[in-house]
Amino acid sequence: KLLNLPLAERVHELEKLKKCVANCTRCPELASTRKQTVFGVGNPQAKIMFLGEAPGADEDATGVPFVGRAGQLLDGIIAACKLKREEIYICNILRCRPPGNRLPSPEEAGNCREWLDGQISIVNPEYIICWGSTAAKNLLGTTEAIGKLRGKLFEYGRAKVCCTYHPSYLLRNPPAKKDVWQDMKWFFGTMGVELT
Ligand code: URA
Repeated sequence: KLLNLPLAERVHELEKLKKCVANCTRCPELASTRKQTVFGVGNPQAKIMFLGEAPGADEDATGVPFVGRAGQLLDGIIAACKLKREEIYICNILRCRPPGNRLPSPEEAGNCREWLDGQISIVNPEYIICWGSTAAKNLLGTTEAIGKLRGKLFEYGRAKVCCTYHPSYLLRNPPAKKDVWQDMKWFFGTMGVELT
């Protein structure tokens, strides 16, 4: 029912959802340890959504996804894809920082799913890029390793979905940047966009 809302209504719906998220206490540990929730940022009419794992310390401090070291690396990828942050919509599987940046538990991811699905249905993106295995496995409900998910097209609602390595993995393993670039060239090719 939220498909193709006019911009003002999308902004309004996202603001309403953001307030619900800010008051969420479904995960008692996360609600008691977070500084704030990290809802998501970007264009409410974005064609492309970026989906990460969970806020880290920098995101918990600022309330904005992907602003730490991994986020800076992601900004480089965004620029290489000739995109601007303002054109896309960026959010995570979780809206709270797990203590010590541990992996989100399946229960936490399940608790946060209503918010994620709300954002997906309001923004209604044509394409979703899952950054890393937490995003890929939770969105798609698969247990396959990220290496097996790369280079394949999935669907989530109306959106075409691809999966690639998480920017944090690229910080630890820079040679894998060429694999992510290959994934971007392929996925943007499916959109009819040639990246050079
Ligand atoms: N890593 C993520 O997956 N998401 C963020 O928002 C920041 C770091």
